[in-house]
Amino acid sequence: MSHEDEVTITAYPDGPLLVRGRVDLLGDDGTPVEQRRRTVALCRCGLSTIKPFCDGTHKAAGFRTDV
Ligand code: FES
Repeated sequence: MSHEDEVTITAYPDGPLLVRGRVDLLGDDGTPVEQRRRTVALCRCGLSTIKPFCDGTHKAAGFRTDV
């Protein structure tokens, strides 16, 4: 696996999971979810209106994480 193929998932403090690298993101029915960027932010507060992506709502909601 080359360095370019590497995928990392970083837990952003009090926010989303940042996925860097090329991944296949699938919906619950197996349909591919369109990704416009190489880095995507996946909501982990559950409040985003554009799930599975983060829309920034976590900030207004005061979402807090330990990691
Ligand atoms: S983590 Fe950002 S809206 Fe949920």
